Amino acid sequence: MSAAWALRPAPPTAPVLRSIDEAIGNTPLVRLHLPGVPEGVEVWGKCEWFNPGGSVKDRTALSIVREGERAGTLGPGKTIVDSSSGNTAVGLALVGRARGYAVELVMPESVTEERKRLCEAYGAHIVYTDAFSGSDGALLRVRELAASDPAKYFYADQYRNPANPLAHYRTTGPEIWEQTQGRITHFVAGLGTTGTIVGTSRFLHERNPRVQVVAVEPDEPLHGLEGLKHLASAVVPEIWDEKTADRRLSVSTEDGLLTCAEVLASDGLLVGHSAGAALFAARQVAQGLTRGVVVALLSDGGDRYLSTGASAQ
Ligand SMILES: Cc1ncc(COP(=O)(O)O)c(C=O)c1O
Repeated sequence: MSAAWALRPAPPTAPVLRSIDEAIGNTPLVRLHLPGVPEGVEVWGKCEWFNPGGSVKDRTALSIVREGERAGTLGPGKTIVDSSSGNTAVGLALVGRARGYAVELVMPESVTEERKRLCEAYGAHIVYTDAFSGSDGALLRVRELAASDPAKYFYADQYRNPANPLAHYRTTGPEIWEQTQGRITHFVAGLGTTGTIVGTSRFLHERNPRVQVVAVEPDEPLHGLEGLKHLASAVVPEIWDEKTADRRLSVSTEDGLLTCAEVLASDGLLVGHSAGAALFAARQVAQGLTRGVVVALLSDGGDRYLSTGASAQ
């Protein structure tokens, strides 16, 4: 080794970014050791709380904002508006603030305190809707609001906007493919707006049509798996493409919460409730295999739910 080489600065190990937007995506994939998984099967968790806004929805927020700017429908002076059960709200509040836009968010009163406070801290204006009308009530209200002043509002419209699944086609799918070196056999994620499943599945199926994509739903309309939708009883998102899911599994709130406690015990991961449901389903899938590489999308972390007192430890 020459002295000149030795004196060069070490390559950076932490990224140097021009803006916080660039910190979105490239989340870690962690090997998990849940009890009950057959020996020849690997279960991995894609840890989306590593995004700067703390959830997978940062990807959606950034993609919608960038595509809006590219199309010319979003520009200086516009206010970004959308409905959200909380995580897209935080993502839009963060990305909007970083890029200089005002943000208004419509959300059910029932969203966790942590999300409300985060959105307020980022300077977003919040309109609350009745908790019992859930995410659909917020959706109907935001449509009225956006239509009331189209010159003022840029309606992010995550349930209809193709930039939502595109975020996952462009980032989540390729990252998982790279991180597993193309070995992934099963992808498991929850259904909310359906953007994660639709976009990630399109990418993975293009690379390998044999990858099985498993969509996870709550087992009943009134459930505690925040962020997930019981599609049979909900307003079906326009971006939903049922061909993208090879299989659909229903999970109860209780099983989701119990699995949060299990993965905390087995691997030290404090995951959110929908992530617990995805892991419950991932293990169910794993138990039907002798060999396989199962990747579960862990949409957010458990720190976002501490105020609910809903934990199964
Ligand atoms: C915690 C949580 N899990 C899962 C989802 C579902 O993701 P998607 O909307 O991409 O279907 C969301 C969406 O908001 C969420 O907030």
